[in-house]
Amino acid sequence: MKFFIDTANLEEIKVASQWGIIVGVTTNPSLIAKEGRKLVDVIKEITTLVDGPISAEVQEGNAEDMVKEAFTYAEMHPNIVIKIPMTFEGIKATSILSSHNIKTNVTLCFSVAQAMMAASAGATFVSPFMGRLDDYTNDPEAGYSLLEDIRIAYDNYGIETEIIAASIRHPKHIEQAALAGSDIATVPFKVFTQMIEHPLTTKGLEIFRNAK
Ligand code: E4P
Repeated sequence: MKFFIDTANLEEIKVASQWGIIVGVTTNPSLIAKEGRKLVDVIKEITTLVDGPISAEVQEGNAEDMVKEAFTYAEMHPNIVIKIPMTFEGIKATSILSSHNIKTNVTLCFSVAQAMMAASAGATFVSPFMGRLDDYTNDPEAGYSLLEDIRIAYDNYGIETEIIAASIRHPKHIEQAALAGSDIATVPFKVFTQMIEHPLTTKGLEIFRNAK
């Protein structure tokens, strides 16, 4: 499973990219707003830090407007992926962009049916949201089941759309995403710092340090 970082914060991206395990970045309107800067400026800087797919989300609207906005981002750098919301207009925009060989990431996916529509539209990536689904259903395995089911459905038909496990809240989600066969997990910086930790690792380090 590949790791993307789910942030628009350049400092977090700089630190994480030095670990050598980050191969892409996802942003969304909330993450961009948190930085208090324009999307194009942030995205441009991210392209200098990470050499891999970088998702820039278009504003929800009609397909024509979304395609127009998408072209301005796609022209900025070959690594830009257009993140598009799961609506009929979004699906339409995804089909159009896919016919122009522009990479897309269909976001806000909460069902296999939606994931199948994204794939049929030629989406490069689909982003099922684990945390938000777990919260909505009050079931800590709801996101996990969704990823497993999308994996089965895609494998049934040899669908190449890559599954990005998104809305990750804790390391357990990473384990679930990997066990479900997700292609990618997009991980907030904080969750990366939690993933490296284990009480027995800390204890083991202490034992080895004191062994001298
Ligand atoms: C990434 O593509 C998504 O926009 C992001 O993971 C959503 O996370 P959230 O549910 O924590 O906002």
